[in-house]
Amino acid sequence: MQVKEQTLPASAVPARERAAAFEPWRHRFALAVAAAAVALLVAGGLVTSTGSGLAVPDWPLSFGQVFPPMVGGVLYEHGHRLVASAVGLMTMILMFWFRAREPRPAVRRLAYAAFFGVVAQGILGGVTVLLRLPIAVSVAHACLAQVVFCLLVTLALVTSRRFIAASQSRSTRPDRRLGRLAAAGTCLVFVQLFLGALMRHGGAGLAIPDFPLAFGRLVPPQFTTGVAIHFAHRVGALMVSLMVLWIALRAMRQPRPDLAGPARLALVLVLLQVALGAMAVLTRLAVIPTTAHLLVGALLLATLMVLAVRALQPAVALARATVGVGATAEGLI
Ligand code: HEM
Ligand code: HEM
Repeated sequence: MQVKEQTLPASAVPARERAAAFEPWRHRFALAVAAAAVALLVAGGLVTSTGSGLAVPDWPLSFGQVFPPMVGGVLYEHGHRLVASAVGLMTMILMFWFRAREPRPAVRRLAYAAFFGVVAQGILGGVTVLLRLPIAVSVAHACLAQVVFCLLVTLALVTSRRFIAASQSRSTRPDRRLGRLAAAGTCLVFVQLFLGALMRHGGAGLAIPDFPLAFGRLVPPQFTTGVAIHFAHRVGALMVSLMVLWIALRAMRQPRPDLAGPARLALVLVLLQVALGAMAVLTRLAVIPTTAHLLVGALLLATLMVLAVRALQPAVALARATVGVGATAEGLI
């Protein structure tokens, strides 16, 4: 006897058993949280660049209040806490939204990771204040900020119409070599960010006071810890630039505009980043170039990561099923 197949309405199927479908509002909200994280990176960068890290000496309250008078460095430090609270709240909503609606287990896990990352980041921020900015905690806070940002960008990426359609269609073939190369580039930029944070929080931003030379030479005549970290960051910049060039040349040869776009952007960002690094040194660590340098570093990291994830598609396709109710993958591209 033949059993007749029944189609249930999407709402009657539990989230984890449904196919990944494009949900415009969830995607837009994920984009908004990633954009808010950009504002948070700038607010955090301003705290360090203006030397306001200890303008508010207590935590979780600020001078024992929720809203202290916003004068001097308090504007940056407390302002940063307010933006961080807003991003924390948005990430919590995002996490519950993904928990309720997202059928791909790996994507749900990413949403949990983003939320716990933000919570850990808030705690690190508080601890660095209470312990009076120890270098290890401030560097960890700077690096985790970039990881959280990347997680939020990934959530926006994997809920986009194009990603869902492409990951379920056979019309785009993964370029695993480019994907691996872009993933290696992302890791290299992360190491560079770590060196930058070490330099920034270890007070080695001017350990080599000239640019492009180092004490008028190609290699500094002698190495203290500060000079070594600063010089490593400059060598790192050269390696990152060459790597981005290599990735961009490879990606731009592809017929896929979804890879060529981020590759071109990465090239522009790396040039801008070197110029801002030079300006940071030549302006004696002025607030605007150092904060912009932190921001462009984060954008470069996220751009290479997006390129890696897209190139590995559909290898990283986090779902097996077809695009949701009534739509075909091809129809959505
Ligand atoms: C979601 C949460 C947060 C994110 C993404 C974030 C991000 C950042 C970033 C990107 C920086 C700049 C690091 C640098 O310039 O190297 C920073 C600095 C700072 N943040 Fe946060 N932050 C968060 C929460 C907090 C909280 C809750 C506090 C509480 C007090 C805090 C306190 C600080 C302090 C004191 C600095 C300056 C550290 C220094 O100069 O050594 N942050 N934050
Ligand atoms: C192309 C690759 C580069 C990347 C990805 C990069 C990234 C970064 C990042 C993210 C930070 C801040 C880290 C943090 O606190 O969170 C930083 C700090 C810094 N970078 Fe770079 N950087 C690059 C190239 C350069 C170049 C060519 C120079 C020129 C000397 C430079 C000079 C600096 C300086 C001086 C700081 C510390 C600023 C301060 O003490 O306030 N960077 N870098």
